[in-house]
Amino acid sequence: MLEAAGMPKTEDAPRGRILLADDESSIRESLAEVLRQEGYAVDTAADGRAALTAVDGNDYDVVVTDLRMPGADGLAVLRRVRERAPQTLVLLVTAYASIETAVEALRQGAHDYILKPLILEDVLGKVGRLFEVRQLAWETQMLRRELDSRYDFEQMIIGRSPAMRAILELIRKVAPTPSTVLITGESGVGKEVVARAIHHYSRLHDKLFLPVNCAAIPENLLESQLFGHAKGAFTGALAANEGLFQRARGGTIFLDEIGDLPANLQVKLLRAIALKEVLPVGSNTPVRVDVRILAATNRDLRKAVEEQRFREDLYYRLNVVNIQIPPLRERREDVPQLVEYLVRRQNVELNKSFKGVNNATMKLMMSLPWKGNIRELENAIEHAMILGDGEWITPADLPRAVAQEGAALPAVGDNLKEAIRAYERGHIENVLGRTGNDKRKAADLLGVSLSSLYRKIEELGIAGAD
Ligand SMILES: Nc1ncnc2c1ncn2[C@@H]1O[C@H](COP(=O)(O)OP(=O)(O)OP(=O)(O)O)[C@@H](O)[C@H]1O
Ligand SMILES: [Mg+2]
Repeated sequence: MLEAAGMPKTEDAPRGRILLADDESSIRESLAEVLRQEGYAVDTAADGRAALTAVDGNDYDVVVTDLRMPGADGLAVLRRVRERAPQTLVLLVTAYASIETAVEALRQGAHDYILKPLILEDVLGKVGRLFEVRQLAWETQMLRRELDSRYDFEQMIIGRSPAMRAILELIRKVAPTPSTVLITGESGVGKEVVARAIHHYSRLHDKLFLPVNCAAIPENLLESQLFGHAKGAFTGALAANEGLFQRARGGTIFLDEIGDLPANLQVKLLRAIALKEVLPVGSNTPVRVDVRILAATNRDLRKAVEEQRFREDLYYRLNVVNIQIPPLRERREDVPQLVEYLVRRQNVELNKSFKGVNNATMKLMMSLPWKGNIRELENAIEHAMILGDGEWITPADLPRAVAQEGAALPAVGDNLKEAIRAYERGHIENVLGRTGNDKRKAADLLGVSLSSLYRKIEELGIAGAD
């Protein structure tokens, strides 16, 4: 079982769903038991009719069916699967006497067949291979999707504030090189968008872009996902499996949340980058790999290095080029364009026809802090578009938390002087916040003298500034 290698319990995450149809109860039960031990979720059917019902009501990865059964035979089950769930793979079990029928089954779309009497290991081997085939089919599909979605990244990355222009320029320069890029910024700020843009604008754009979230996957699983494993590396590893590094084949791997990479894997990643080779779990033979690495984090990696939570040598390897995406509140001028883009996108998703947000909403959106950045903005717009039903989004349509934050802001009227005052105040508060209230530093950043900063603080009534 997978847990032998410290993997997550198989009950939590089955390796896949199997339907097993056989009218002989001894075969059915023993086979089901063995497959379950291997970590698959198994349903059983004792005759053809039960198998058809199961296929109708469920979504299986693999159907293992006996050919001769009362009710409906294996070919009928095969036909139903082809009709209902063409992605499901069928393994037909047959006695030697009816091998012609097995050949006919293959012609009709069964993926493989196996002869009786059954040898358990053969069945496990074949089932394991079918799951690999499924994995491959999935990757091909993903590849196709990547190709379909080739876009001009400049249309994809919305925002033309000076900060975003600088980022576009950096992407343009770094994309065609093989350099590793570290993309940093708060949560929801668009790190993955930038990573995809780099891939699409590179010479690797027709290869795979494989994102992997280092924080979401348990350590042991992550290692074999990244670097692969040898046959028998742990019980349940029926066949050798390629990791993402091998699979990328000249494409790009996007290591998201790299700050959460466990220490043990930091060493192995360093080796992969420095030597361009990986060691699959349970193997002594290094495999050469050819892959572009992009990494992202919303943590302060420099600090993690100082605190010895992240290897310094790896940090330098990753941080060849750094793209730092500023939070939305530091590039508020991007808000209107983003809002327009997001409304258009949600109109399609939600099948609505909103024209945009009304003036009051835009004013509010320009002044909110957006701690969750563009993702939060996106969610607020989606929420408003699901609940609202006019042509224009109004402040009342926004999520309550967002509207409350808005209410806490000073009211800004149409008067220009007042609006400038409100902006000035927000901006100074922002800079003071970033410098930890260090007024000398803040004045420097603002490009004003210390005494005029004090005057502004007094004039604008900035609270908590002393
Ligand atoms: N400049 C942009 N133009 C258009 N859409 C954007 C832009 N930046 C972000 N988005 C959208 O905002 C959402 C969040 O972006 P993304 O997933 O890239 O953020 P992230 O920094 O990776 O966030 P997290 O740290 O939470 O993983 C996505 O739906 C993305 O399409
Ligand atoms: Mg992300």
